[in-house]
Parts: sequence; structure tokens; C-alpha cells
Amino acid sequence: MKNILVTGGAGFIGSHTVVELVNAGYRPIIVDNFSNSDRQVIDRLNEITGSDITSYENDYQDESFLRKLLKDHAVEGVIHFAAHKAVGESVQKPLDYYQNNVAGLITLLKAVEEASVKNFVFSSSCTVYGEPDDLPVTEEAPTKPATSPYGATKQMDETILQDTTKASKRLTSIALRYFNPIGAHPSALIGELPIGTPANLIPFITQTAAGIRPELTVHGDTYPTPDGTCIRDYIHVVDLAKAHVAALKWANGQKGSTYETCNIGTGKGSSVLEVITAFRQATGKKLPYKIGPPREGDIVATYAGSEKAKKLLGWKSEKSLHDALADAWRWQKTL
Ligand code: WQD
Repeated sequence: MKNILVTGGAGFIGSHTVVELVNAGYRPIIVDNFSNSDRQVIDRLNEITGSDITSYENDYQDESFLRKLLKDHAVEGVIHFAAHKAVGESVQKPLDYYQNNVAGLITLLKAVEEASVKNFVFSSSCTVYGEPDDLPVTEEAPTKPATSPYGATKQMDETILQDTTKASKRLTSIALRYFNPIGAHPSALIGELPIGTPANLIPFITQTAAGIRPELTVHGDTYPTPDGTCIRDYIHVVDLAKAHVAALKWANGQKGSTYETCNIGTGKGSSVLEVITAFRQATGKKLPYKIGPPREGDIVATYAGSEKAKKLLGWKSEKSLHDALADAWRWQKTL
């Protein structure tokens, strides 16, 4: 299996996955409309991998374009990243999210079926669990009613993918439920590029340390956790990228109509205050912060049960929170 379509391949997780695909001997084909990524990422990817990666500037929902691409390149696998992913924005623009994240997936899967593509890896999220009852969260945990249109699209996508796969003779697919992706490639040539004011913690921290933001606001410190701040499972984006290659290899070894979900996290929870301390230790930077009110919609604590990823994919995270924060800071300094 060589040619792999990577939708959203110029994005944060997509670009890091393209690097790992080349490292593992695959030929990634990027389709990205650059609505939430930068064209220069393609040149950076060629620089990191020393190759000339095929890429198309196009909306992945363009059905005729998609069908032709899958045929012309004899694509054997798809990794689907292209999606809108901002929880807050999804509340303001639900139809944009349902169109791009759900209708778009249906278009893609129809083209995949027609081209008899065998392997499909889907970018899902721990958001599908909502506030977990038990920790760590395993794949058997119930998915709760989504608390945002974004979360609802990921839940719907998993159902659509599962039903399509079960009905197919050839297709094997897997939904990877990411926890909190952070960090950057050690080369500092690619990393997270938030547009406008970052919603996520790590880019806000690095922009504050760089003097771009005056100070960090910690969203609440009265939660029922050891230090009162929320707990998350922060996973290095390079480890997350490698999990996609492992998932592709797993899929290629299955007979058709096999569907799985898999948590991709470190299995360790870190509070906001612990992340701030770790950032200071990893970079030597001061980090002014204040405590603000809780952020609406935040869950108290979540971190991954990662046994299944180890058993099914032979994958586990290797990089530490310290590594991720040091890499994130090295990347921030190039911006
Ligand atoms: C982490 C913690 C904040 C910013 C989101 C999406 C989720 C997934 C990953 C796509 C929380 C606190 C943050 C700040 C803070 N994306 N925080 N000050 O919300 O866990 O997950 O990204 O799948 O769907 O919801 O990540 O980084 O926004 O927040 O105190 O300036 O940091 O309150 O406790 P989150 P986050």
C-alpha cells in the first residue's frame, strides 16, 4: 500500500502525519483548501522529508475532483483530517459544521466506495465522550449527548463511518479519538498556527511567553481536582501522527467491513497549573497568569485509557509533556 490521500494534510495534525507517512515509506497525497492552514507548509514538508510531496489546493468535498484523484493515483488508503474544529465557532455556525464535517464525509465515503479504497483512518475526538463518569476513559465508555455542534458532528461521523464500513465488502476503517494534541515538529519547521486569538491552552501559553499576549487567564481554579484547575491528556503531535501510520498498517491487515474506535492519548492527566509549571521548567520562561472565571462548556477532567491502542495498533506515546512544551516554544520563537 503506497499512495495515501491525506485530506487537510497542511493542517496541524495532518502535516505532522504527512512527515511520518513519508518516514514509513508511503506516498502521501495532500488535498487542502488552506481555509485553516498555510500554503508554505507544503514547502516545509518537502524540506523536512527531502521529497516532493504531491498536493492539491482543493475543497475535499469536490466530488468529481475526488473521484478522479482516487482513480488517477490508485489510492489505497485515506486519512481524513479536513474538518472545522472550533467548539465555540460551531455554536455560532452550526450549518457550516454540519455541511463540512458531515455532508463532506458522506461525499468522501461515496468516492472511496466507488474507487474500492480499502483503508480509512478518521480524525475523531475525545469530545464524543463529554464529561466522563470514570477515568481513565476507555473506548467502551458511553458517548454522551454532544455539548456543541462540533461534538455532534464527530459523533455522527463515527456512526456514518461504522455503518458504511459494515455494509462494505472491502473497506476497513478506524476512528482515532484524540485527546489534546500539542507541541510541534522538533525541526520547528511546522507546528500549530492558530488564526486570531488562540482558544487552546498551549498556543495561548506560548504567545504569552513570547510577549504577544499580556498574560494568560486560567479559566477557573475551583474545580473538584487536586489544584482546582481542569485536567486534560496532552499528547505530543508527533506521537499522534505516528498513531495514524500504525492505524493505517492495522487497517491494511484486516479483511473488509472491519470498524474500530481507538483512544489516542498518553494515559496521563495534567492540570492547567501543572502545565504552566512544566512550561516554565521546559523553557525557563516566566509566565504571567491570573485566575479568571470558569469557561462555559469545559469538562472537569479527562485522560485516555490507552490499553487498546497498545494492543490493537502496537502504539503508545513516547514523548513527555516537557518535550511537547519545549517543542511548542521552539516553534513559537520562529513565528
Ligand atoms: C484545555 C484547558 C481550559 C485556554 C479542545 C476542544 C477539543 C479538542 C482539543 C478538537 C481547559 C484551559 C485554555 C486558556 C485556560 N479539539 N485554558 N486558559 O477545551 O480541552 O479541548 O481542544 O477535537 O474538542 O474542545 O482544550 O486547550 O481549549 O483547554 O485555562 O487561555 O485549558 O479551560 O481547562 P479543550 P483547551
